[in-house]
Amino acid sequence: MTLHVMTLLQFLRLSRQVHLAFLAGKLTESPIYVLGNPSADLDSIISAIVYSYCASNRLPATKPRPHVPLLNLPNVSAGPELYRLRPEFVTALWLSTNFPALKPDERFENASESAGKLLREHILTVADFAQSLRESSQANKLVADVTMVDWNAMPIRDQQKGTGSVSGLGQVSFRTVGCIDHHVDEGFVPSPESLPKGQPVVIQVGPGSCSSLITDELEKRGLWNSCQEASSEAEIAQVAKLTLAPMLIDTTNLTAEGKVTDVDVRSVDFLRQKVTPVDAAWDMEAFYEVISDAKKNSLDLLTLQEVLDRDYKEWAEKTQSSERSLNIGFCSSVKPIRWVIEKAGGCEEFLQGVRTFGTSEGKWLDIVVVMTHFTSPNNQHSRELFVCVTGQNGLSVKGVNAFVDQSGAQLKLSKWTPLDGECVELNDEEIRSTLDGDTGLWSRIWVQANSTASRKQVAPMLREAVAKL
Ligand SMILES: *[C@@H]1O[C@H](CO)[C@@H](O)[C@H](O)[C@H]1NC(C)=O
Ligand SMILES: *[C@@H]1O[C@H](CO)[C@@H](O)[C@H](O)[C@H]1NC(C)=O
Ligand SMILES: *[C@@H]1O[C@H](CO)[C@@H](O)[C@H](O)[C@H]1NC(C)=O
Ligand SMILES: *[C@@H]1O[C@H](CO)[C@@H](O)[C@H](O)[C@H]1NC(C)=O
Repeated sequence: MTLHVMTLLQFLRLSRQVHLAFLAGKLTESPIYVLGNPSADLDSIISAIVYSYCASNRLPATKPRPHVPLLNLPNVSAGPELYRLRPEFVTALWLSTNFPALKPDERFENASESAGKLLREHILTVADFAQSLRESSQANKLVADVTMVDWNAMPIRDQQKGTGSVSGLGQVSFRTVGCIDHHVDEGFVPSPESLPKGQPVVIQVGPGSCSSLITDELEKRGLWNSCQEASSEAEIAQVAKLTLAPMLIDTTNLTAEGKVTDVDVRSVDFLRQKVTPVDAAWDMEAFYEVISDAKKNSLDLLTLQEVLDRDYKEWAEKTQSSERSLNIGFCSSVKPIRWVIEKAGGCEEFLQGVRTFGTSEGKWLDIVVVMTHFTSPNNQHSRELFVCVTGQNGLSVKGVNAFVDQSGAQLKLSKWTPLDGECVELNDEEIRSTLDGDTGLWSRIWVQANSTASRKQVAPMLREAVAKL
């Protein structure tokens, strides 16, 4: 297959068409879908896009195949809704591809209608996939190959190792043929020997962003080079800019304590050098700040339920002694808890909102965690932790208490006081008495003074405490 020069947006448009051709039965085998985790955050989305761009028709090494990025959003189709729910992604895509646009038909505005149209033609989500399947009235279970990025275990597992499904797309059985991730290995991905020769299985805890790990792995495999040979410098510069967005966001401009590793620093340098030959005056800090602002402001447009769902992950953890599984949901918020309470309309309304979220169809959570992280007025990276038992059972309470016993000291969980400094119409004592009590819903709120521990560290601690019950 010959590789021709292609802009990032051309590639994305073509990928969608490859997907539709597959569903229409026009391909002899599935493309390789590249699927990130269901929080569908900036890192997950861009990891999938960049990996696809460089690996498409280059991997597997012995028999190259097209790759199609698939956004793991079961309930959001690509269009104005995606723009509303992920404005920082659209901002990053816009800044990367429109200054300047390389083709006249690739120009778009950072606004709902224009961006919505572009997204519809270039991006594929799990919701879009499910919609097309409904329209094609395909009755049989579909099997498709997948490379997992920024996660390493499917929520629904089939018998065969590495095969499973995702929420919202149960009619597709995904067969894992590669994985690049920076989370703890959950033992789902098959060993490299059982995959097509040379496929990547890189599961490495440490790097602040998965996009860094992907950049590094692609570089080691010479795929940036071969990509560059097939493309113009201006095209590669667009891809490099887009890839830098999650790296800078997830490492707070390479300053986040405990999150920045050599891989992050090396990858940022590497990509920056792909931008400068075409855009010597490019201001990476300004780029970071604009995307960071879009991310911070993004929650303004959402309802409480959407705020909780915005950066959300869940796990079912089986307890050792009772054979019961507890469902644990982890919401992450870039706004402080007082902001979320205000959005809800008060403390009681917040608790009720969390209950509604936890007991909603398909979630059935026993434990809901809300982690906040933000920069305080005196420029400190700050975290709060709120835990609520929505499953109404003693086992969950036991699990949370065990978690506090085992990890409270390391996380420096301490009495909650506001750290955000914003003037809000809320009484701190009321927040403590409502959100730290046993009447109604059992819940606890803390300041997590060890701010280096993110969900990536805290979730395994709680899961382990529950598993040992
Ligand atoms: C998707 O959205 C619909 C309507 O907004 C809602 O009823 C449903 O529970 C949502 N599904 C998931 C999986 O979030
Ligand atoms: C980002 O990091 C650079 C280099 O360390 C620094 O000069 C700049 O001020 C930082 N920008 C922001 C917005 O934090
Ligand atoms: C793009 O639009 C979003 C949503 O209106 C906004 O949050 C963001 O700051 C905008 N970005 C730029 C660069 O104007
Ligand atoms: C803070 O948490 C991190 C991640 O769990 C841990 O590595 C570190 O040792 C903790 N810091 C302190 C002072 O306990």
